Amino acid sequence: MEKGFYVTTPIYYVNARPHLGHSYATVLADVIARYRRMRGADVWFLTGTDEHGQKLENAAREAGRDTKEFVDGIVKTFKDVWRTLMISNDDFIRTTEERHERVVQWIFERLYDKGDIYKGHYEGWYCTPCETFWSEGELPAGRLCPECGRETSRVKEESYFFRMSAYAGKLLDFYAANPGFIIPESRRAEVLNRVGKGLQDISVSRSTVRWGVPVPFDRGHTVYVWFDALINYLSALGFPDETGRYARFWPADVHVIGKDIIWFHGVIWPAMLLALGAPPPRHLCVTGFWLQGEDRMSKSRGNVTDPVEIGGMFGVDALRYFFLREMALGQDARFSAGALAARMNADLANDYGNLLHRTLNLVHKFTGGRVPDAAGDGEAHAALRKTAAAAAGLMDACQFKSGLECVWELVRSMNRYIDERKPWELARRDVPAMEKTLVTVLETVRSVAIMTSPVMPGTSGKIFDQLSLEWNGRKLRWDDALRWGAVQGRRVKKPEPVFPRADLSAL
Ligand code: ME8
Ligand code: MG
Repeated sequence: MEKGFYVTTPIYYVNARPHLGHSYATVLADVIARYRRMRGADVWFLTGTDEHGQKLENAAREAGRDTKEFVDGIVKTFKDVWRTLMISNDDFIRTTEERHERVVQWIFERLYDKGDIYKGHYEGWYCTPCETFWSEGELPAGRLCPECGRETSRVKEESYFFRMSAYAGKLLDFYAANPGFIIPESRRAEVLNRVGKGLQDISVSRSTVRWGVPVPFDRGHTVYVWFDALINYLSALGFPDETGRYARFWPADVHVIGKDIIWFHGVIWPAMLLALGAPPPRHLCVTGFWLQGEDRMSKSRGNVTDPVEIGGMFGVDALRYFFLREMALGQDARFSAGALAARMNADLANDYGNLLHRTLNLVHKFTGGRVPDAAGDGEAHAALRKTAAAAAGLMDACQFKSGLECVWELVRSMNRYIDERKPWELARRDVPAMEKTLVTVLETVRSVAIMTSPVMPGTSGKIFDQLSLEWNGRKLRWDDALRWGAVQGRRVKKPEPVFPRADLSAL
């Protein structure tokens, strides 16, 4: 049996509803999942929520609510937002589910029995918003969190430790043997440098936090929220049962994560897996931050944008396109409604939507609303195949920005193709040439609709509909984009704008 393709998102803290930054990571993972399904892979796409720890305990208290009730309410908004954004996840894991907690306890006990977890005493600092332990030496003057810049607090308590120091050498071997582990490569060096200096054992339980998974053999402790959360990727596959979904999908092919959590996923997580004797994930796909002005968009800064509102203003597909087209993997990008509107008008309405619209109008005007039975242009077909190969190579490497740029070159070349051939003139003096032109453009639009369907599933369906082609997104394969011959003879619909034009003056 060929191994399936397993892609995950970070599991989000449920202290507030999802903002645009979380939506980006989830949409990116969704595009990867949809793309891989189209390439014929057996895909498992997991997302979920991280529901334990001090931060949530505090958030519920501040809201004056029972903790479980509080998290249940926010989890619902996550699920609703993902539905609105057309997220095609196969499973949704919550760390408060029994299927998860039992695995956390199993792993904790197992590593304890092995001697990789031992009891000790923690003395240092803790950033509650990041749920991160910091040693004195890691903190700058003023003791603000190096990750988020907020105040840390002093923690002095009994704690269990994970013997991570024992795994530094094995981790370095693993990185050396898997140079593609961290995508993009530019993020690799920071991990290698830190691990190269040696690793400390890390605290993996809290004796002052109640809201968490109890340590099975010591009820005075709950499992540290990051140790608990990382395990979701395994518990959702039914681990430690190694026969079912685990056998089919582990190791994960891609964990999509933000650059703020690379230490947890690039170091702690593979060390935990090595301790367990399970293979580490194949790739971490590390994203940058969406900025609002100069600042990272975040709940605590209060500068968040609501993805549902943006989706309502511009359409969910336009938002998804903007996400993928605008952010180069691993780099920060700035979000503004104006930038989204400008992209939408230029790339979507002008280049792509208009290509279809003007061509369908020509079909109604010159060939009675029926696509001619002519063959498409061989050169254009060759160009399409070249584009598809290049785009696939980029998408395989999670380089969706470049992949889309490559497809848009083709879209723009088709607009030039019409401008140059002037089918409205050909209609008077060379009907076969006019017919060939129209067929070529519509074949290309159909191919583009297939290739971009992981990013804009709703739009591709609408385009197929206007071409009177049946849309079966889950069945379509990438290679269907390469084959021409589906549009001829179709009685096409009256063109409707696929993308509304955004009124820039209203923003
Ligand atoms: O860290 N731009 O959860 P979290 C881009 N529970 N992405 C952003 C972003 C922004 N402005 N803000 C957040 C946690 N993100 C843990 C994860 S995984 C086992 C546990 C994205 O709710 C980014 O991917 O703080 C970040 O890593 C993720 O949201 C986590 O959000
Ligand atoms: Mg965070």
